[in-house]
Amino acid sequence: MSQRDSILVLGAAGQIGTDLVMRLRSDLGSDRVIASDVKHVGGELRESGPFVLADVLDFNAVARIIDQHQVKEVYLLAALLSATAEQNPKLAWKLNMEGLFNVLDIAKEKKGMKIFWPSSIAVFGPTTPRDNTPQHTVMEPSTVYGVSKQAGERWCEYYNHKFNIDVRSLRYPGLISYKSPPGGGTTDYAVDIYHQALEKGRYTCFLQPGTVLPMMYMPDALDATISLMGADSDKVRIRSSYNVGAISFAPEEIAAEISKHIPGFEIDYAPDFRQQIADSWPRSIDDAAARADWGWKNKFDLASMTTDMLMHLREMKSLPVTK
Ligand code: SER
Repeated sequence: MSQRDSILVLGAAGQIGTDLVMRLRSDLGSDRVIASDVKHVGGELRESGPFVLADVLDFNAVARIIDQHQVKEVYLLAALLSATAEQNPKLAWKLNMEGLFNVLDIAKEKKGMKIFWPSSIAVFGPTTPRDNTPQHTVMEPSTVYGVSKQAGERWCEYYNHKFNIDVRSLRYPGLISYKSPPGGGTTDYAVDIYHQALEKGRYTCFLQPGTVLPMMYMPDALDATISLMGADSDKVRIRSSYNVGAISFAPEEIAAEISKHIPGFEIDYAPDFRQQIADSWPRSIDDAAARADWGWKNKFDLASMTTDMLMHLREMKSLPVTK
């Protein structure tokens, strides 16, 4: 990218966008990172650089932003997550698929663009090996979200092979961040639990004990995303989506870690429809391909993530550092 080119983050107000925009702005300079969302945003996202209101389903609007701002890299993050998608399958399919087609088709017209599109552990299903899930394995997703991500992966690879579009993707595990509130995902209990622990000293979990899921702290997810996008094109051998792993834990394990910081913290369990979603997903991920191809390596484990999350959330909620 030349100094005049810019980056566009679509779905900037969502779970990943909120953090990614700020990170890209601090790495590259605020003016070069255009944040866009279908809804108005406030706070640091709005104050720290350019923001454009746009719907990813509106091809012309997205194409216009790309032209006007000389955009060379697009991060397409607008999507409905797993639990919300189950409540509204048609909307999830439309948003998750048509948004992707719009961006891929614009990249086909304009040439020389680089696209990032997030996939998920939800591409796997009940017939997938659940431990150390391989990069290439059985994929029969049983959620609307997983079906849309699986189809999206196929389309990304197709556009790369057929039209030489430089599209790159990660299969994110559950992402945990203090900046964005829980956003309709099955793994989002692991975000909410920190908020509730600080506010109420207790948490009712919608997954049952023993439900181990792959997770990742947001700073690691940002590093993975930025490393993948910065890698030489010939190193990015996989053009569907890369497995990336970091931490795996069950609700009682994160609760035990939180108790070390908040003595007396209590968890109880009221599993709902999200249990079935979680039961269809891997427990841990084999990410050897990402490690070998472009040097992926996570930094945070459950203990260091918990210390960092609680410190930042206490600051944000203006709670004393030792509660
Ligand atoms: N965090 C997502 C969800 O739970 C998985 O990609 O929906």
